[in-house]
Amino acid sequence: MRIVLLGPPGCGKGTQAKEIVSSYNIPQISTGDMLRLAVKNGSPMGKEAKKFMDEGLLVPDKVVIGIVEERLQGNDCQDGFILDGFPRTIPQADALEEVLKKIGRPLQGVISFEVDDAILIERLSGRRICKECGCGYHVSFDPPRVEGKCDKCGGELFQRDDDKRETIKERLEVYRRQTASLLSYYKEKGLLFSVDGTNDIGKVRNDVQNVILKIRASG
Ligand code: AP5
Repeated sequence: MRIVLLGPPGCGKGTQAKEIVSSYNIPQISTGDMLRLAVKNGSPMGKEAKKFMDEGLLVPDKVVIGIVEERLQGNDCQDGFILDGFPRTIPQADALEEVLKKIGRPLQGVISFEVDDAILIERLSGRRICKECGCGYHVSFDPPRVEGKCDKCGGELFQRDDDKRETIKERLEVYRRQTASLLSYYKEKGLLFSVDGTNDIGKVRNDVQNVILKIRASG
């Protein structure tokens, strides 16, 4: 199964990608996670990406396309993948189409999550992530059992730098300016499926599962 999860920051792409990964045993390819790892490792690419990420801006297409192309060559992608946070611009979508065409495995569907800005801001400002295992929480909607500690590994929870209010607003603007046009791009290709992302995590998971059944049934 080869699908893209598309939607504004905080719509639940990462949360739902993890659910799909555990049901279908295919990798989640999150460009945000890959870029944050490069920043953490202090690689030249990470240092370059950090300047854009801290401002809530998109990292240049050339950089992101390069890392995704390389990642898609991985053996674990043979049976499919879930792209989370990529593509985010038309040139990225064109590059993805090109690389998948070369390997003869085209995209099967794009799942878009629809959520209003007020909810997105609330979700992002309350998000917390485990420093050790990367598991995500929300202070109100999905809180850990012990405040500030990961349920799974006991690691300390932290807030992403770009989840501060001012940066969230910029990220939402950037989404509207540079990414939202992908909705019509994929609609025209007959690949777009929409899910109401405002429901609770369990209901969204069920709706995503139903869309995946449709995508699989259509070949
Ligand atoms: P990235 O890491 O991709 O961030 P994003 O797209 O802004 O998405 P988020 O991870 O913030 O949100 P999400 O939709 O995954 O929501 P989540 O499930 O966590 O990108 C970060 C930066 O990297 C970008 O700004 C850019 O600089 C760079 N970058 C990345 N990809 C790039 C690309 N392709 N091109 C160029 N630059 C790129 O949920 C959010 C919170 O809400 C969580 O706390 C969760 O518990 C909670 N929640 C989730 N679902 C629900 C629900 N249904 N009800 C209640 N709470 C919920």
